[in-house]
Amino acid sequence: MTTATTPNAIRHYLQFSDLTADEYAYLFDRMAIIKKKFKTYEKHQPLTDRTLAMIFEKASTRTRVSFEAGMYQLGGSVVHLTTGDSQLGRAEPIEDSAKVISRMVDIVMIRTYEQTKIDTFAAHSRVPVINGLTNEFHPCQILADIFTYIEHRGSIQGKTIAWVGDGNNMANTWLQAAEILGFTVHVSTPSGYEVDQSIAGIRSGDSYKVFKDPMEACRGADLVTTDVWTSMGYESENEARRKAFADWCVDEDMMRIAQPDALFMHCLPAHRGEEVQAEVIDGPQSVVWDEAENRLHAQKALMEFLLLGRL
Ligand code: CP
Ligand code: NVA
Repeated sequence: MTTATTPNAIRHYLQFSDLTADEYAYLFDRMAIIKKKFKTYEKHQPLTDRTLAMIFEKASTRTRVSFEAGMYQLGGSVVHLTTGDSQLGRAEPIEDSAKVISRMVDIVMIRTYEQTKIDTFAAHSRVPVINGLTNEFHPCQILADIFTYIEHRGSIQGKTIAWVGDGNNMANTWLQAAEILGFTVHVSTPSGYEVDQSIAGIRSGDSYKVFKDPMEACRGADLVTTDVWTSMGYESENEARRKAFADWCVDEDMMRIAQPDALFMHCLPAHRGEEVQAEVIDGPQSVVWDEAENRLHAQKALMEFLLLGRL
């Protein structure tokens, strides 16, 4: 049963900045409630008879499993499409695909390349569209990361997050989150891989500071986080990046210079010995498994909110 959603009422989640601080506060509370129900086997099926279409133009483990399992747990069902097995890979216009798919399902999640592709899809969709990762942003991941921080340490407001590595989709999304939720990001990237404020889509530079030396970025941080040196879609740059990023490996010295109770996060998949030492990601300050699990609870709360509003 598809809801007759009017275009004006649609809320998309294409960037972290699509929701307000107040809506995030609601969502973080909601995630905790939904997680507790999951852990105690309490049925929570507000999306009975709703259908999610998932479109993957890049590989995925966590995003696929968390959206698919999450939608079934909420009482709905899922359609999985890839470029290779749909007309998307045979140059059907995005506009046409959006019009057709959104007449048949209630909500759409897309993982693709340029942000402009998901923006175009959303502009022609009758139903909410969620960004499951683009070259520019990964808002669902940061949603889960901040929930994980809150679970372990309380409010993230006023805290310092050290970003060590590529000025990529994850870094951009952290910058947006910092501006909205009131924390600071210390960014250290090799030269040539800096964050770009205009791509990150932030209003001012007040919520982040740039450091040449990754150790300095980590000094006093409450959370140290990193990501792969080469993101999906940039594989042809792999060799150049391996050389450029050699000093941007989160190691035990970086964790020691951070706050004594600093957490370590990584969106995964990780490459031990490249962007992070095994001793760090597998060490006592790492919360990467909670972080990965929280994708499930965060996205269930997000889908519930986009389809039903505040409950
Ligand atoms: N972190 C993340 O999005 O993982 P996948 O690429 O496995 O979905
Ligand atoms: N920055 C990485 C994140 C993977 C989840 C990529 O885009 O490949």
